[in-house]
Amino acid sequence: MKGVILAGGRGTRLQPLTEITNKHLLPVGREPMIWHPVRQLVGARITDILVVTSTHHMGAIVNSLGSGRRFGCQFTYRVQEEAGGIAHGLALARHFAAGEPIVVMLGDNVFEHAIAPFVDAFRVQERGARVLLKQVGDPERYGVAALDERTILAIEEKPQSPRSNFAVVGCYAYDREVFKVIDGIQPSARGELEITAVNNRYIERGELQYSIVEGRWTDAGTFESLREANALLLEIDNKIKP
Ligand code: G1P
Repeated sequence: MKGVILAGGRGTRLQPLTEITNKHLLPVGREPMIWHPVRQLVGARITDILVVTSTHHMGAIVNSLGSGRRFGCQFTYRVQEEAGGIAHGLALARHFAAGEPIVVMLGDNVFEHAIAPFVDAFRVQERGARVLLKQVGDPERYGVAALDERTILAIEEKPQSPRSNFAVVGCYAYDREVFKVIDGIQPSARGELEITAVNNRYIERGELQYSIVEGRWTDAGTFESLREANALLLEIDNKIKP
C-alpha cells in the first residue's frame, strides 16, 4: 500500500499568510502542517509516499520534507500545475501507485488519533474504497454523507441543506480502480474534479465503506480552523494518540 499527500491549491482563504508560504507549511503546534499527514501515514506503516504540490511551492515543500529519512519514509514529488481539484491532483499518482491500493490524505487535515485503524480496516477490505466520517457542527463546509444504518447512500459536496451532520474528512483509501474512476468523472460547477464525484462512483458500484473518526478532527484551511488545528496539536505536543 502506498500513500499520497495532496498539498496543492492556493490557500486563498488564508491570505495574506499564504502569499509567500504554502498553506501546508504554516505552523500547527510545533511543526509545519504537512508533517502531520506524513506522521499519520508512517504510523499506519505506509512509507512510500507521493507529495503533490504546486510549481510555485515545490521548492519549499522539498526543503521541509527532504528525502523522508527523518520520518522513516521515502518521498516522491509531483507538480500539480493548475488548481484543478482534489481528484485532479490524485490523478497525478497513477504511475506512482503502479497498481497498488493507496491512502490519500489532504495536507491540511489534522487528527487527534492515529488513522492506523482506518488503514487496517481497508487492508482487510478486498476491493473498493473507504472514507472516514466525522460529525460536525457546520456540515455545509464539507462533503456530507447521507447514511442509513450500514451504508453511505450518497455524498453531496458543500450542500446548502445537508442531509446529515457527517462530514467526509480528508483521508480516503482506494483500490487500483480509482484512476479509471477519475477518468470517468466531469468537472463540477466550480470547474474542479471533485473527490466527492469519485466517492459517489464507488457508491454506485456498491463498493464504498466507511469508518468514524475517533477523537477530534479539523481541517486548517480557514483562520478559524487553522486556530483549532494549532490548538489541538499544541495540546498533544504533535504526538498523535494511538
Ligand atoms: C475538501 C473536500 C470535501 C472534504 C474536505 C475535508 O474540501 O472537497 O469533500 O469534506 O476537503 O477537509 P475543501 O477543503 O477543498 O473545501
